Amino acid sequence: MDYIRSLDADRWLFHADVLVDRAHVVMLAERGIIRADEAAAILKCLRGLNEDVFVERELPAYEDLHTAIESTIIREIGEDIGGRMHTARSRNDEVATCIRLALREELLQLMKELNELRRALMDKAAENIETVMPGYTHLQHAQPTTLAHHCLAHADSFARDFARLIDAYGRVNVSPLGAAAFAATGFPIDRARTARLLGFDSVLENSMDAVSTRDFVIETVSCYANLMTNLSRLAEELILWCSSEFGFLIPPEEYTTGSSIMPQKRNPDYAELVRARTGSVYGCLVSILSICKALPYSYNRDLQEVTPNLLRATRLTIDSVTVMRGYVEKSEFNKERMAYEAQIGFTAATELADTIVRETGLPFRTAYRIVARMAKEQPDRSDILDIIDRFSVDITGKRISELGLTLDRVKEALDTATNIDRRAVTGGPARKEVMRMLKYRKDALERDEALRTAKQEHVKQCLNELEQEVERIIQSSVCV
Ligand code: ARG
Repeated sequence: MDYIRSLDADRWLFHADVLVDRAHVVMLAERGIIRADEAAAILKCLRGLNEDVFVERELPAYEDLHTAIESTIIREIGEDIGGRMHTARSRNDEVATCIRLALREELLQLMKELNELRRALMDKAAENIETVMPGYTHLQHAQPTTLAHHCLAHADSFARDFARLIDAYGRVNVSPLGAAAFAATGFPIDRARTARLLGFDSVLENSMDAVSTRDFVIETVSCYANLMTNLSRLAEELILWCSSEFGFLIPPEEYTTGSSIMPQKRNPDYAELVRARTGSVYGCLVSILSICKALPYSYNRDLQEVTPNLLRATRLTIDSVTVMRGYVEKSEFNKERMAYEAQIGFTAATELADTIVRETGLPFRTAYRIVARMAKEQPDRSDILDIIDRFSVDITGKRISELGLTLDRVKEALDTATNIDRRAVTGGPARKEVMRMLKYRKDALERDEALRTAKQEHVKQCLNELEQEVERIIQSSVCV
């Protein structure tokens, strides 16, 4: 029997399953499919189930969670009443509904954590508008930028992850309940009512589709995979930056560990595990895709194997976001070192070429060739204008100073702060533009968080309504 079970996933679904049972029983009573007193007895018994005791003692004795709950109810109140709970449904629609409910809660939690991470990155950006650092391409010094610009780049990728998750949430939060095995039921059930009582936004109509599909899982775990990819890139940078080669970052004490042999070490293990667990989440996605591929409609037991992979991917993703948020919040940057490195490697080369274009009217490619000679031959720069002149004569036949370039302009071009400040077009690292982006993104974050909270509140309200209905049915049968 062990072979056909997925105990961890069933434990995860316990809370959802009790809710599904309650909503189903309330609806059965409302539609007159079972009597109110029968419903009351079942609901009372469901209420009496203690999660810890049930999960520990009952669950391991049965084929799955759904069978365990029903069998426990029947044992406690007899089959004559307890045996009516499963009228007009199947484990197929039941489990699909449970997964959607449990996943919905996790998604709301994940989006909350993700917004906290976005906030942490924006706070770091706000503190570091003036913190100059080298920007990299090919992991080589490229052009100077600011830490604020860099933090906002990561925040933007997480904003898109939020957008993907909230979109996926809309396709998770639909109710398959009432589809029964796949062909619905001849009983006059009300699918919209159970959907409403459970806080779903709508009914997943076609009963065969409703029990067969796990595309909402594939979509969700794809969102995780994307999010983890973005997270791993941030993790990787934080790992690199705290190496002595970079020396940009002092990693927070609580996110590092020591070495058992090298007393001096502080290793960025948490960020390394985020990087590694990205691979584990991909693994879950590939497992789920492979399990679902070419499965004939409608339900097959193969689908059960999807759930543990979803659960694992969900846990890994939420925990990784939480870790990275703390890591970002508590990281301290070595601003002097970053500023120093920002000018190493001739990072002002592009601005110097741009300045030559602006001052002399030479084509960019010609200016580029002049500056490229400087980069290659690395002359002593004390006489910089003469040097540029020399290369300019070689390349254009003319002295650059005759074309209008002055020493002051060259010095400006070589200055890191000027380099950054000139990049003031939309999206650039100039102070003014970064401030504008930051403000816009803070507002967008507030809107996103309000959207998430509204969804959470809606669910809460519906589940309250369910609780009241349960209470009403139990109370009315006490009065009889
Ligand atoms: N434990 C099963 C799952 O997770 C529940 C559905 C079982 N249905 C069936 N027809 N065997 O998929």
